[in-house]
Amino acid sequence: MTWNPSRYDEKHAYVWNLAADLIDLLSPKPGERILDLGCGTGHLTGRIAALGAEGVGIDASAEMIAQARKNYPDLRFEIQDARVFRFNLPFDAVFSNAALHWVKEPERVIACIDRALKPGGRFVAEFGGKGNIARIVGAIKAACQAVGSPLKEESIPWYFPSLGEYAALLERNGLAVNEAFLFERPTPLEGGEAGLRDWIETFATNLLQHVPSDRRPAVIQKTEEILRPALFQNGVWQADYKRLRLKAIKEGKPV
Ligand code: BEZ
Repeated sequence: MTWNPSRYDEKHAYVWNLAADLIDLLSPKPGERILDLGCGTGHLTGRIAALGAEGVGIDASAEMIAQARKNYPDLRFEIQDARVFRFNLPFDAVFSNAALHWVKEPERVIACIDRALKPGGRFVAEFGGKGNIARIVGAIKAACQAVGSPLKEESIPWYFPSLGEYAALLERNGLAVNEAFLFERPTPLEGGEAGLRDWIETFATNLLQHVPSDRRPAVIQKTEEILRPALFQNGVWQADYKRLRLKAIKEGKPV
């Protein structure tokens, strides 16, 4: 997946604007060291730092990290992969918003989170859970089929676990789940009539890669046609997001 950070910053600000209560759940304290895993263009790392903690952001995308450094030149951002990241000093908390559904190897990510935390440290995250964007994916599949380029399951790049599955993974890896919710959060997309098209062009390009480029506009148009009755209201597209939100604590006595 290649990201276009300026498009992301301009058209998808809801990604971090909707995370205010996730930051409340994290509750950063002055002096704490907090890792923002999958920080994108750095806006939530910036909010964590504004609350007095030392915020460090990592992302696998060099383009996103370059933009994060431009947005917040005083903060530390590094290009690191969620499946293998490593730091010399441990963190009081690992935070992640709208990032972990991009990584299909959750055990590797959780092992890195566990290694990065101090004993008693917290992991606070929100990402797409089971059923996330089910209508959008279903419509893209039907539209691909309609133009004669059926979508293969392996080109779907996301991991949307159930609450039970993810909580069990955390607990097997030494992270005790304190709070966990799976909830629907219909999300208004910016851009009016063009909102769904922009969302697909930013986030779902992998799903269209197998479609010859001259047929992609037809796929997008067909997807809009299928979804319009359910997801377009009063001039605004609503993505059928379903979020998994949780807080877990690394076992062991705080030092
Ligand atoms: C999400 O935030 O749930 C999401 C965003 C882009 C693609 C897939 C899921």
